[in-house]
Amino acid sequence: MAKRILLDVDTGIDDSLAILYLLASPDAELVGIAATAGNVPAPQVAANTLAILDLADADDIEVALGAAEPLAIPLRTTEDTHGPQGLGYAQLPASPRPLSDRSAAQMWVDQVRAHPGELTGLCTGPLTNLALALRLEPNLPLLLDRLVIMGGAFNHPGNTTPTNEWNIHVDPEAAKEVFDAFSAVPPGRRPVVCALDITETIEMRPDHLVALAEAARSTPPELVNEDFDTEWRSAATNPVIAYLTDAIRFYFDFHHSYDLGYLAHVHDPFAAAVALDPGLAVTKPATVDVELTGRLTRATTVADWAGMWGREPNADIVIGTEPGIFFDRMITRVGALARRLDMEHRSDMEHRR
Ligand code: BDR
Ligand code: CA
Repeated sequence: MAKRILLDVDTGIDDSLAILYLLASPDAELVGIAATAGNVPAPQVAANTLAILDLADADDIEVALGAAEPLAIPLRTTEDTHGPQGLGYAQLPASPRPLSDRSAAQMWVDQVRAHPGELTGLCTGPLTNLALALRLEPNLPLLLDRLVIMGGAFNHPGNTTPTNEWNIHVDPEAAKEVFDAFSAVPPGRRPVVCALDITETIEMRPDHLVALAEAARSTPPELVNEDFDTEWRSAATNPVIAYLTDAIRFYFDFHHSYDLGYLAHVHDPFAAAVALDPGLAVTKPATVDVELTGRLTRATTVADWAGMWGREPNADIVIGTEPGIFFDRMITRVGALARRLDMEHRSDMEHRR
């Protein structure tokens, strides 16, 4: 049976690949998407999310707008990482579709109340709207089947400050409220946390884009590299492949500019894959808290692995995976989705002639 996923995103290049991965997965049913401010402001996140859904002919999935600002601090966005609109070099047509008339936090609450014990929550952005939802429905941790979070850095450097991961950095107060709210749940309901320790091992490279194009039967093969001009755009025959090439090439260029190699850490699609198949990940329980006051360390996630605080674990942190399995699965699924959409469009055009 397909898992029912409530997705909370700050779309974002890697968030967009996570959305496509879920849409491409027969074992996923996407029940709604919360647009959370983070990589870009919330209205732009919502617009990007609708545009990706339109690209994938998934125009029946509710998208709810989140809060404009984090709980306690001004919003910081990162267009240098994700491009001026958040989708790298790609530009998608604006969706004609309206947003939901309920807020992202209200959608979380309504959905978990309507389907108690059935939903998997998947957060790939800051935790602002989930924290707001928890204030409305404190029982939410027990109403979810499972929560999967992309966020934090434990025994690993940060990607925003020396110790901060981006999603936690944007709204540390929200992250603390979420981890605190899960402190009393039984072991089977602990959030599964995909932190930088593991997501920075998920290295997407240009040949993965070529493999995606092959799986979609898209031409021509386009092996991008660091010498490509910023003005270059994909000529792929398949619109999903053209989108991914233009979006992810920006992410490659960004990582390359920080001397990380010509690659991209695709954090969010990995978290999506774990949400659908926890067997992809080896986890270890820990008690997680978020530093809110440190002069140098504010927004750092701290894991007590050994029970030194004397508090029950409130998270299952992913400590191991096999990246090749993820990439094979992602390429098979997203490639097949891209191919199917293209074939459907071509046959529609034929019928209209
Ligand atoms: C996270 O930060 C964002 O920029 C990405 O979309 C990902 O969710 C990684 O730190
Ligand atoms: Ca994200």
